[in-house]
Amino acid sequence: MNPPLVITEKQAFQSQLLSWYDLNQRALPWRGERDAYRVWLSEIMLQQTRVAAVIAYYQKFLQRFPTLQALASARLSSVLAAWSGLGYYRRARMLHQAAREIVKQHSGQFPKTAGELADLPGIGRYTAAAVASIAFDEPKAVVDGNVERILNRLSGSLLTTMDSWNFAEALLFHDRPGDFNQAMMELGATVCLPRDPNCLGCPIRAFCNSRSRLKVVRLKPRRRKRTLSYALCRSSKGVLLVRRPGTSTLMPGMWELPELSSKPTLETAAFLFQVRHSITLTDYVVSVFEGNHPGPSGKHFTPAQIARLPLTGLAKKILSRAAVI
Ligand code: ADE
Repeated sequence: MNPPLVITEKQAFQSQLLSWYDLNQRALPWRGERDAYRVWLSEIMLQQTRVAAVIAYYQKFLQRFPTLQALASARLSSVLAAWSGLGYYRRARMLHQAAREIVKQHSGQFPKTAGELADLPGIGRYTAAAVASIAFDEPKAVVDGNVERILNRLSGSLLTTMDSWNFAEALLFHDRPGDFNQAMMELGATVCLPRDPNCLGCPIRAFCNSRSRLKVVRLKPRRRKRTLSYALCRSSKGVLLVRRPGTSTLMPGMWELPELSSKPTLETAAFLFQVRHSITLTDYVVSVFEGNHPGPSGKHFTPAQIARLPLTGLAKKILSRAAVI
């Protein structure tokens, strides 16, 4: 194993990266934010989710739960309702659980060090370092997928996870650790791209051992196609929804439309519309039929009640397309 490259001109590296960041960072709602609750929320939402999708959710979530205390005292179902459509719902459960823990065990004061933060539910090494550095100026480096790619290219080799974290720590600018970390992530998200890096526009190209040569080509995983059918049953009492079992591994306890086990024939139900929906590696084509679902389970909800329910992302999409919500 080659040790990570030691950058002798570390100060020049840091100042070129940070000057670039100061001038070129995207205007995002959590930029410049120093409040730990808000920083934490943005970092959790940004895991596995694109920036463009996060922006609106972040702002709405903060309107609904403006403080850590508001989140801790909310019911889990309200938190899941605000998360509906963002996916990976375990993040919302952990967020809620951690908020309650901070209120109970830390008198509502956000822990200020990465070490303490990492003891909270849903906060791993990355999130702990991100919150501690951005909100509290603790000199802790972060490594996410984008940063890892930059480090590999800088060193000209594929680093182990441990080497990546060590290398990131070695490069960190201690006077502005939060900005340094965000600058690395921003560079990875906008310049040092996986397939086609913009090396000419890169502020740290002078230090790079790859300059476009080390393209990290990850074969795209094969996507599956599936079809699904759901019934939209409307009555004077509202729309019929069913609750997913609390033991389900996917989206436990969340509400959705009754699923039809096979596409109904035209005689039994009227076709309404189709929507497309993707969950991780599967692309679904979803047909929605007007109908009377025969099953005994389920409950009718008015649109006002539905707005407060933890819906699955797909149910939200269908109900919005049907102009119910
Ligand atoms: N990705 C996740 N968190 C980020 C941040 N704070 N800045 C830039 N990219 C990010």
